[in-house]
Amino acid sequence: MTGLFTVTVHTSADEERFSAVQEIVRGLTSEPKTLSPKFLYHEEGSDLFDEITRLEEYYPTRIERSLLERFGAGIVHDVWPHEIVELGPGNSAKSGTLLSPALQAGVLKRYIPFDISESAVREGAQALFDVYPDLGEIAAVVGDFERHLSAIPSPEGTRLVAFLGSTIGNLHPDERSRFLKEVRRLMPRTDDALLMGVDLVKETSIIEAAYNDAKGVTALFNLNSLKAVNDLLDTNIDTSLFRHCALFDTGHSRIEMHLEAEADVVFALPGSGDIVRIRAGETIWTESSYKFTRDDFAAELNDAGFGSVRWFTDPDEMFSLVVARP
Ligand code: SAH
Ligand code: AVI
Repeated sequence: MTGLFTVTVHTSADEERFSAVQEIVRGLTSEPKTLSPKFLYHEEGSDLFDEITRLEEYYPTRIERSLLERFGAGIVHDVWPHEIVELGPGNSAKSGTLLSPALQAGVLKRYIPFDISESAVREGAQALFDVYPDLGEIAAVVGDFERHLSAIPSPEGTRLVAFLGSTIGNLHPDERSRFLKEVRRLMPRTDDALLMGVDLVKETSIIEAAYNDAKGVTALFNLNSLKAVNDLLDTNIDTSLFRHCALFDTGHSRIEMHLEAEADVVFALPGSGDIVRIRAGETIWTESSYKFTRDDFAAELNDAGFGSVRWFTDPDEMFSLVVARP
């Protein structure tokens, strides 16, 4: 590596494990049974997501990338950022579309990726330093959106916060509202900007195909959250007893991913020894991916304290970049 690279892992492995175990137990003993979508990215989950982004059916990455290639440099030149904070970048595969114009303009001092997956962040940093030897500093923060955003270092100049991939859609409305208000607090200057990728409402068949790919990669990604449970709880749940399902709920404007038990599944929780029973046909709800209209999303941004909002959309209005200013 050429530039300065630091990784702040926000909590100790033991603390993280303790809080993950509590969260999993709460989810599996509630009605309906749930697991946080962050467990999808456990270990090989980040690589499986990477594979999803290259699938024919998974339109969001392809369209967002083309929007970034078309509009990214203009957005960056408008903001003139000294630093780019990227929330949930994974392996930073799209980050070059923002870093490159900022480096060419000679203004960028540091890049701050924030993600729950330490391995993805490390892999991304290595690749970025290889491609952009002029990148002076990467100050990575490993943490959870819901708990550790305040661990992001204080700003040193104008800040562009990027949150791509429509990961905002994986938060429920109350979580989104809290999250957007907290992101707003990371942006104290009036010339700071937030750039988000937002997946738009469209025909149900297109959305459902994107989450039910023919190769079955999304199914493996979904089943990986049970592997996270087995690793973290030291249980031995037989993942072959579960089936991936993903259906669009028009009323809530979200595609839901579930794991449906094909037989009765029974296992004991560590510590308490309490028994979890999942009946054949019952599901564990592992992810929601909300799809937005521009008006609804602009209202959420305004509510979180963002004033001006600009949209950059493809001709078929499948996906959009949105730039919001304090
Ligand atoms: N921005 C990339 C990756 C999106 S996948 C893209 O557009 O392709 C979602 C990313 O968010 C993953 O890298 C995952 O590790 C991260 N993530 C998911 N839940 C998280 C959480 N609760 N806290 C922090 N990062 C999280
Ligand atoms: C990261 N996130 C926006 C993806 C999505 O589309 O909701 C995760 C994903 N789930 C299934 N496929 C991809």
